[in-house]
Amino acid sequence: MGNREQVEQRVIVALDVPDEQAAIALIDRLPQVTFWKVGLELFTSTGPKILEVLKSRQKRIFLDLKFDDIPNTVAGACRSAARYGVDLLTIHATAGRDALTAATEAAQEGAAKAGVEPPKLIAITLLTSISARQLAFDLKIPLELPEYTLEMALLAQESGLDGVVCSPQEVAQLRQTCGNDFLLVCPGVRPTWADKGDQKRSLTPAQAIIAGADYLVIGRPITAATEPELAWKRISEELTTVA
Ligand code: C5P
Repeated sequence: MGNREQVEQRVIVALDVPDEQAAIALIDRLPQVTFWKVGLELFTSTGPKILEVLKSRQKRIFLDLKFDDIPNTVAGACRSAARYGVDLLTIHATAGRDALTAATEAAQEGAAKAGVEPPKLIAITLLTSISARQLAFDLKIPLELPEYTLEMALLAQESGLDGVVCSPQEVAQLRQTCGNDFLLVCPGVRPTWADKGDQKRSLTPAQAIIAGADYLVIGRPITAATEPELAWKRISEELTTVA
């Protein structure tokens, strides 16, 4: 496998579209993309059908449903989601230690029962749309933002999770503290030529990989581009120079 292909497999494109038809149009427009993220909007609209569409095209799937509930409920949700044979699945670290532990066990059980590989369970540390100011003044968290995300990552690691979703600005510190076997998945990635939108703590794709990210999640810079193929190509070329 060439360097370019390897690096392209580390880019997860967010299928943030409202329905199955729009999703299929995007998947087929970008056949180079091997890893897709299905989030709340699309999954609420189509249900598991979209996962079948992706599987029939041999794509890898990040099911980003960001579970956050009491331990019994998140465990049940993870058990169900793991049966789909997805590659990555998310839960909020703020659900707490008991919920994280129960979710880890339930994901293993659900996958085993369905005879599929268990998903890598990863925790959201803090949404990448939250700024340091919002953390302090709206959420009333009395910790500095990097310290807070580190605490959430350590909680996830101690609870047996495979990794975390974090902003690229925190990735270097988390890589150093959590070690090389802990998956770091970074949304909030913005090439210099793209609009930042609501992402507050972004870095460029190349900077995020250099900082230690395993995977980048990129949505609007590709999906909302006038020419998504060109946006993908530019990102892929940028990454090939650093990976
Ligand atoms: O369009 P954009 O590149 O901002 O898309 C980023 C994707 O990553 C969105 O689907 C968003 O839900 C997701 N995400 C995020 N921040 C997190 C976790 C997931 O932006 N902490």
